[in-house]
Amino acid sequence: MGTSADLAREAIRRCRLLAACTEHPGHITRTFLSVPMHEAHHLVRSWMEGAGLEVRVDAVGNLRGIYGSGPRLLVGSHLDTVPDAGAFDGILGVMIGIALVERHPACALEIVGFSDEEGVRFGIPFLGSLAMAGSPVMDAPVLDAIRAFGLDPAQIPGAAIPGDVRGFLEFHIEQGPILAGLKRHVGVVEAIVGQSRAVARFTGKANHAGATPMDARRDALTAAAEWIGAVEALARGTRGLVATVGRVDVEPGAFNVIPGAVRASLDVRHARDAVRIEAVKQLRAQAQSIAQARHIGCDWRAVCDETATPMNHAMVEALGAAMRAAGHPDHRMISGAGHDAMILARKVPTAMLFMRTPNGVSHHPDETVLVEDVEAALEVGIKFLESWRPS
Ligand code: HGY
Ligand code: MN
Ligand code: MN
Repeated sequence: MGTSADLAREAIRRCRLLAACTEHPGHITRTFLSVPMHEAHHLVRSWMEGAGLEVRVDAVGNLRGIYGSGPRLLVGSHLDTVPDAGAFDGILGVMIGIALVERHPACALEIVGFSDEEGVRFGIPFLGSLAMAGSPVMDAPVLDAIRAFGLDPAQIPGAAIPGDVRGFLEFHIEQGPILAGLKRHVGVVEAIVGQSRAVARFTGKANHAGATPMDARRDALTAAAEWIGAVEALARGTRGLVATVGRVDVEPGAFNVIPGAVRASLDVRHARDAVRIEAVKQLRAQAQSIAQARHIGCDWRAVCDETATPMNHAMVEALGAAMRAAGHPDHRMISGAGHDAMILARKVPTAMLFMRTPNGVSHHPDETVLVEDVEAALEVGIKFLESWRPS
């Protein structure tokens, strides 16, 4: 079985092995029900079965392994990644779940590797956990991907967590600079910020880049650029607000053609829903007014709105007690990143434990973890499981 340090080293080793299951050799990119996800399932299933779990893949591609019987705690995170990702975002939480089983806890567990949290393939996040929470996304492209992966959309209702699942605990890297700044190994998440995603589409007129005078243009990209500057200005000017335009698709996308159409993604987050909602409203209005002033069309598509999610108070306190019992300061914090925990929290008592991100970098190949922090998370997890009983 080995010590917690041995299990931590093995969990990190396994994350690095999984990094090879990628759509982009030399980089880590593994999206919802992609071919590399089959390879990842094969590896993780072998580790789950090696730990004595009863393993299945549900109809939306969540990989799920049960330890013991009866009422149980769900432990896990996501197996998908952003493009050119680090090796630990999501994946480490699944490996820690398997490692906890290898310590033979007294309570029953279900370890889950969610099929999609990042939402890269279809722009819609949480496809795996939404189905487990009983709110599956049934868009045609998603169902086609499910069939192509060899799964049956008719079985999607069977992905919903049964009444035997009495709680969810997610271990995850912080993905920010707080714990590193405090020189702390781990921290208990008290709440996850709310998150809105949308797409602003600017439509002008493609035309010749050389023969079209500047005052005769309807350039969709310069309109989008002005709006993107407004997005940054609003976030910089609003305490606690973060807003990101992470993707811009330009049509037709040629050196010598004035952009006729641009789609710009928007990601807005804040700990208070009212602030986030107001910011999205303001940015939508600004997109319209900037477009209008430039005689450009503008339409807006909301993609998702997830409310700020407090973690379950009793589980947070129990995690705090486990931190102290394991010899760590009981540090509490807010998650600026979204997680499957905000979806499962709709259905069962849910909590998260963060591990330090030593360089504060994530969603990037430089993402890393320290063995001592994974070891600390395992020790806290073991203490937590000693006292956790299904409510
Ligand atoms: O975007 C997020 O916050 C998460 O990493 N999916
Ligand atoms: Mn992520
Ligand atoms: Mn994640």
